[in-house]
Amino acid sequence: MIVILDFGSQYSELIARRIRETQVYSEVLPYRTSAEHLRNLNPKGIILSGGPNSVYDPGAPHCSPEIWDLGIPVLGVCYGMQLMVQQLGGQVERAERAEYGKAALTIDDPTDLLTNVEDQATMWMSHGDSVTQLPEGFEILAHTTNTPCAAVAHHDRGFYGVQFHPEVVHSIGGMAMIRNFVYHICECEPTWTTEAFVEEAIREVRARVGDKRVLLALSGGVDSSTLAFLLHQAIGDQLTCMFIDQGFMRKYEPERLVKLFKEQFHINVEYINARDRFLAQMTGVTDPEEKRKRIGREFIRVFEEESKRLGPFDYLAQGTLYPDVIESADTNVDPKTGERVAVKIKSHHNVGGLPDDLCFKLVEPLRRLFKDEVRKVGRSVGLPEEIVNRHPFPGPGLAIRILEEVTAEKLNILRDADYIVRQEINQRGLYHDFWQAFAVLLPVRSVGVMGDQRTYAHPIVLRLISSEDGMTADWSRVPYDLLETISNRIVNEVEGVNRVVYDITSKPPGTIEWE
Ligand code: XMP
Repeated sequence: MIVILDFGSQYSELIARRIRETQVYSEVLPYRTSAEHLRNLNPKGIILSGGPNSVYDPGAPHCSPEIWDLGIPVLGVCYGMQLMVQQLGGQVERAERAEYGKAALTIDDPTDLLTNVEDQATMWMSHGDSVTQLPEGFEILAHTTNTPCAAVAHHDRGFYGVQFHPEVVHSIGGMAMIRNFVYHICECEPTWTTEAFVEEAIREVRARVGDKRVLLALSGGVDSSTLAFLLHQAIGDQLTCMFIDQGFMRKYEPERLVKLFKEQFHINVEYINARDRFLAQMTGVTDPEEKRKRIGREFIRVFEEESKRLGPFDYLAQGTLYPDVIESADTNVDPKTGERVAVKIKSHHNVGGLPDDLCFKLVEPLRRLFKDEVRKVGRSVGLPEEIVNRHPFPGPGLAIRILEEVTAEKLNILRDADYIVRQEINQRGLYHDFWQAFAVLLPVRSVGVMGDQRTYAHPIVLRLISSEDGMTADWSRVPYDLLETISNRIVNEVEGVNRVVYDITSKPPGTIEWE
């Protein structure tokens, strides 16, 4: 294992993912983690992340100086390197010229950490401070025009520092450097594989759950579906999946999902038809956040009622992922048992969120995984590709794609229009070209003409989006004939729609969803 001590960099999580790409397990821990705790964890290497501070600022975050005596190789990245230098007796000062963006790395020592990194390789820099004097025993491995100490090492003690960010994609050769650190300097073995994870997770779930019953709220997304498959392999019929149909899913999706899980994979799924209840909650509601709140509340009510009816259950399975664990290191440990009990869920959580006082014990086998790792696990336990690679779909579903009040009639219109969008995209093999692709129904009406008739009906907005992570996004430059076909089909086939418009707003300033 490689431990990343986090000094507040936006890239700490990315470093962990890069390490795992080399099939070595990695964890992000707070910078304050004691040397004793680290000794007990026995990692093969430690990485000190970047951070927003200057090491010489009063109150700047420091790691325990005892870390230097653990006999474990350390790689400092940006702030991490400056801290290493400062704590070991060197000097860090405000740089004459700050360096942001790409810089060419001139390699002075092509062995060791920089093996297989090309001279003049582009590296991503982001610093206002620089190392001006190295501690005793350190050497320079590489420099750039503005940064004399761009990569440094104390070979005998296994201490390394880089001023640039090898983890970001713009750093060419950054991965080679990470591999050198992980394999050659820390002597890690590539044991973090999907197969090894699945085996261990199944063993752990069996040991934890014994012969008790486990409940899982299935949403049809990749996390809860992977979890269902994994748990089914581990404990078979002791698992009950509850699928609450709130009536806001896409056309045919609830039916297909339940059929797939029940009939094809023989997983115990309880289908709860709660469409009327959720729709009743939408009457007269126009505010998007009020919609989310009401849907979330109703979800909890239905979940509580149904879990009583189907129970008792001892455990609740949750598709918590590693980024959630890093983000919410509070609320979740019972001081008596040390078990995670309360559930802190972001408002964006797919199933709508469960409250803190549900008093189930939790099973969270995916809590050490990143999203891309979940997909690999999903594939390896037999989840069909259509779920593994499904576009993100918001928990409140079509309810936040019908602007203002949601009614049964509008749901039908949007479902049909949205279905046409998906059909056309799938038929052309374009599904994976998009981050999301969907239709939105506007509450206004406009005039049109069909045959000899004047129409006065709703417009549909087409939202085709490309994105890496949903945080920023761009509208997709698609062929006109795709737009044309979708527009013609929707206007001709969906009653109540007489116009289709294409949304050409990126995020920011727009959001992906319209509500
Ligand atoms: P926005 O619209 O904020 O969306 O650009 C970013 C991503 O989050 C999804 N999204 C939601 N997911 N519950 C969810 O589970 C929600 O209330 C919700 N709102 C937006 C959206 O589909 C996109 O992938």
